[in-house]
Amino acid sequence: MASQIPDKIDTLFINCHVATMTGNALSIIEKTALGVTGKTISWIGKEKNLPDALKIRCQKVIDCQNGWILPGFVDCHTHLIWGGSRSNEFEMRLAGATYEEISKKGGGIFSTVQATRKASKDELFISAAKRVAALLSQGVTSLEVKSGYGLNLETELKLLEVIGQLDKTFPLHIQATFLGAHTLPQEFAGDSDGYIDLVTKTMLPAVKDQKIAKAVDVFCERIAFTLAQTKKVFQTAKDLGLKVKLHAEQLSDSNGAALASEFSALSCDHLEYLSLSGAQKMAEHNVIAVLLPGAFYFLKQTQKPPVQILKDLKIPMAVATDLNPGSSPVHSMTLILNMACVLFDMTCEQALLGSTINGAKALGLEQSKGSIEKSKDADLVIWDIDTPADLCYLAGFTPIKMVMIEGMIHNNNFN
Ligand code: NIG
Ligand code: FE
Repeated sequence: MASQIPDKIDTLFINCHVATMTGNALSIIEKTALGVTGKTISWIGKEKNLPDALKIRCQKVIDCQNGWILPGFVDCHTHLIWGGSRSNEFEMRLAGATYEEISKKGGGIFSTVQATRKASKDELFISAAKRVAALLSQGVTSLEVKSGYGLNLETELKLLEVIGQLDKTFPLHIQATFLGAHTLPQEFAGDSDGYIDLVTKTMLPAVKDQKIAKAVDVFCERIAFTLAQTKKVFQTAKDLGLKVKLHAEQLSDSNGAALASEFSALSCDHLEYLSLSGAQKMAEHNVIAVLLPGAFYFLKQTQKPPVQILKDLKIPMAVATDLNPGSSPVHSMTLILNMACVLFDMTCEQALLGSTINGAKALGLEQSKGSIEKSKDADLVIWDIDTPADLCYLAGFTPIKMVMIEGMIHNNNFN
């Protein structure tokens, strides 16, 4: 499977094996040569098929020492900008309190909101940058970050601006999602419709005007917003030309997945309580299922998402860290892969597809990210592993030899 010959190659990787993640499978090519020209992949095939004429037109040749090249991870669901800490709530939960109880007493998301409102842009940038750096060091090359710990116009915009700043500072592709409808701020206690009016009439138009987010998310749940309120937000987002996605059926079945599907959502995320009819709607509207085993694990949930139904209905499954201070303070994609297999019964292949091409689909990035194909962005990680399954099996171990993002080399550990 040699491809057409490019005029020149800037970086040629040899002595490697590649899992391309094409065709809904690992799609392994052993003893591969992979060429990168500019920011994209320009040649991929068996090393023995590499034309001699091309070999001499390579600027730089990297011997991968029999390593594996996979697409960089696409972490398609995070809330990694926040102020303060919730380690006290972690200890409360260890002593027996539940996530919902803590939330009802004014803790939970709202305690992070208070700390986030107080934090300056610089403080938020500095703490979030450490989290982005941790994910990059784990092989993440594309990342979604949500707002949602501001819950007023000023702080929501501040969070989205920090996301933009992170995108400019780091080599990763960082995509912002507006999650103004994350939970009800205390100043709107007893008036959740009033808050939804603020989201739809003031925040969403500002987000649209400033072109500061790609998509709009809502937490549809009994401790957050109702189905009718979610619909209002989605309708406004749609009218403004913004994509939608949903925190759906995380703690109960609120019928969110069916509603999100009717709005052609990019993804429905969490889905522990997803019903068969909700899943059928997702299949009908090509909605990606984003599974978040970190939150399931950290909240000690027992109801698993219906992975078998998702498989039977051929709904693409993505997996992501959900990195956030309350329900998933997990800074490791490989640990998440292990959890996806052990807790959600996914195969290693499904977990790896979930963290690459299906993560890219959940962000609408599948034309350029998530798999190794000619003309796609050269977002690649070279791993010192024996087989791709090691990334799921060796929980939290990240033997990275090199990361390349859009043709540029980062984290070069070759000696
Ligand atoms: O994905 N479910 C809502 N949002 C986050 C939790 C955020 C928090 O507890 O701070 C989640 O689990
Ligand atoms: Fe989340």
